[in-house]
Amino acid sequence: MQMPLSFTHLVSSDQVTRPDLESLFLHCNALRSKDHLELLSLQKGRLISLLFFEPSTRTHLSFEAAAKRLGANTISSVGWQNSSLKKGETIADTMHMASGYSDCIVMRHPQIGSAAEAAKSASVPFINAGDGANEHPTQALLDLYTIQQEIGRIDNFSIAFVGDLQFSRTTHSLLTLLKNVKNVAVTLVSPPQLTLPEKYKQILIKAGIPFSETTDMQAAFAADICYITRVQEERFTNPSEYEQLKDVYIVRAKDIPPTCTILSPLPRRNEINPDVDALPNAAYFRQAKNGMYVRMALLDQLLSSV
Ligand code: NCD
Repeated sequence: MQMPLSFTHLVSSDQVTRPDLESLFLHCNALRSKDHLELLSLQKGRLISLLFFEPSTRTHLSFEAAAKRLGANTISSVGWQNSSLKKGETIADTMHMASGYSDCIVMRHPQIGSAAEAAKSASVPFINAGDGANEHPTQALLDLYTIQQEIGRIDNFSIAFVGDLQFSRTTHSLLTLLKNVKNVAVTLVSPPQLTLPEKYKQILIKAGIPFSETTDMQAAFAADICYITRVQEERFTNPSEYEQLKDVYIVRAKDIPPTCTILSPLPRRNEINPDVDALPNAAYFRQAKNGMYVRMALLDQLLSSV
């Protein structure tokens, strides 16, 4: 019997409690040990809306795979140009429609705050799959689950975030989720133009999480976990600024000690050299696969509660 989650809609990592994490991760492990046919009976007959108004590979495919592995079906709207948002329809009206058609809504949208707005009008469970440069809470869940899988614990570790800390919504969500973690220390590595917004520094301070800021990438490799982010080209208003910053950090195999687990939400451009892939402590492809299992656990728990 699962502990019910404390939320019906997941807009921000801030909503997630320690009991939620423990319940989800236990459920995730339980689902992983079931065979394919047994899984198919769990959410048979349910329908999930996948609304992706911004590009996505992992998040979209893993939600779709998660739904289908649980026996649920999916309906999709992909791309801004192809939806009625292009005609000026509001997020609220889009939510009214999708709530009528399906049992759960997953949405990615380019606008900061769009997920909070959507959740207000959704009458079935709503999941934020990324709202602009703001948050991406299911990525944070799978990131922390991956930390547990890789180092055997979700407490007592150090983590460095490297790259575009201003616009990386996965960084924002994982940092916010760390309030549930005991004895964690954070290093923030970014160029001065892409430092972590003040809002997230305040979240760390409020949670009593020690952090330091530097521009020196080498400082990251002393941590247990190094979380590498892409410079988010699509968030820049000035293309020449992006060009100047895009290759500010490039991680190579020779820089990485065996004690440091390398995570990334992916996709990567040049920031993780392909020679890193062969290292046993390069965990980003395992991390992406974990995303499907964590999303299965989340969908199963949310759908079972309504
Ligand atoms: C991330 C995102 O969309 O924020 N990707 C993902 O969901 N795995 C990171 C990124 O695009 O850089």
